[in-house]
Amino acid sequence: MLRQFPLVKKEKKVALISISLCLLLSCLVFYSLAPRASTNPTSDSQTDLEKAKKLYLFYCAGCHGEKGDGLGKAAEFLYPKPRDFTKGLFKIRTTPSGSLPTDEDLLGTISQGMYGSAMPNFNFLTVDEKKALVQYLKTFSEAFQYREPESSVPVINEPPATPKTIEVGRKIYEIMECGKCHGDKGKGDGPSASTLKDDWQIPIKVRDFTTGIYKGGPTNKDLYLRFTTGMNGTPMPSFYDVFSEEEREAKLWALSAYVRSLQANQPGETSVVRANRISDPLPATPDDPVWEQARPVSIFLTGQVIASPRWQTPGVDGVTVRALHNDESVALLVEWHDPFQDTEGGGNEGDTGDTTYVNLDQFLGTAGPFPDALAVQFSQSLSEGTQKPYFFWGQAGQPVNV
Ligand code: HEC
Ligand code: HEC
Repeated sequence: MLRQFPLVKKEKKVALISISLCLLLSCLVFYSLAPRASTNPTSDSQTDLEKAKKLYLFYCAGCHGEKGDGLGKAAEFLYPKPRDFTKGLFKIRTTPSGSLPTDEDLLGTISQGMYGSAMPNFNFLTVDEKKALVQYLKTFSEAFQYREPESSVPVINEPPATPKTIEVGRKIYEIMECGKCHGDKGKGDGPSASTLKDDWQIPIKVRDFTTGIYKGGPTNKDLYLRFTTGMNGTPMPSFYDVFSEEEREAKLWALSAYVRSLQANQPGETSVVRANRISDPLPATPDDPVWEQARPVSIFLTGQVIASPRWQTPGVDGVTVRALHNDESVALLVEWHDPFQDTEGGGNEGDTGDTTYVNLDQFLGTAGPFPDALAVQFSQSLSEGTQKPYFFWGQAGQPVNV
């Protein structure tokens, strides 16, 4: 998935620590070979479907499988898994919970892709090609023959987000117990998070709202739709029926505003880690209250896809960094939510051995044990301009300390 992350920029005079973490974009597109020319078409729609089939086999089958069952060649290496279209279950819809998506919904997904997954956008195709693909992928599921999608839910009267609406949203978040899955602070670490599975019985990660990454798009409207319609095939419920008709709109808009306010780096902010100067002694433990004097900065991580063994599906997709200094030393606090068990590190003292961690090994062909570890890289000198040493241990002329 192509996505722009704010890059670290250098600024002078301020004590500044640039942490070069791997910000590679993992965009994996597997193509299968295009099939030979089609047989004699009998009608216009038949011709369109034949054309669409070619496009599908070329652009989609590598992940979604020739039969649309989600078992393409690349599927083994991907998490989340490519969708199996045969069940007719789609997450990104404007239609009520349980309904099929409209053609426009599917067109939207093909045009936008799904952030936070390997599903790319296909905006380089013409609108006609994408529309033909929509018709073709509907042939994989009988559901489209027997059922019509219900009408799209209206998305109207969006109010501006204010501190007041955000506070209303926070209360609803609490009352609706979103935190059971998404965590009290929306970090994707609620008590149920590690127990959830999708309709294909594959463990599913709940969204961490601090990242600002949303499969169905990041606007208030997109979120409003996700709450209203739920995400079919996943434990993410619809909250449409929870509210009375009079209060529904206002409440759901407030919820959107609150969820968006949890994003760690708000649009326009950079991910430069600034070390505030403090007169107190530097904190020595992660839970020292002195850390509250440091501004948290979120840095997104993606898998190492350059050298073998490639890691397409990192368990930890971001870290939060805080830094403080006292003119002599710098203290760093790096925190992350880790849904995977450290199978080599031996665990912490007092661990009983039973674990609620998600174990994805059985679902991933290449996954093996990997111990938890963290390395921070500092440039040895402040370079001119925005040029940083290469993130893999620097480069000639720009040495680093790791
Ligand atoms: C590199 C792999 C890859 C390719 C190529 C790919 N997809 Fe996907 N696609 C995915 C993954 C992974 C998901 C599931 C993402 C998730 O559920 O988080 C997905 C999901 C979808 C969905 C489900 C949307 C929903 O609302 O649930 C549709 C529709 C879709 N893809 C269509 C296509 C079409 C059409 C093509 C070809 C033009 C295509 N995909 C090519 C990986 C791929
Ligand atoms: C039973 C667990 C559960 C509860 C309760 C729950 N969610 Fe979710 N939610 C999920 C899961 C799982 C996903 C991820 C689905 C996926 O990635 O396919 C998700 C995804 C989301 C997304 C991401 C949409 C996108 O486009 O990526 C938002 C926003 C969201 N939930 C908001 C909420 C809010 C707000 C509440 C409470 C009103 C809530 N959820 C309650 C499980 C839950």
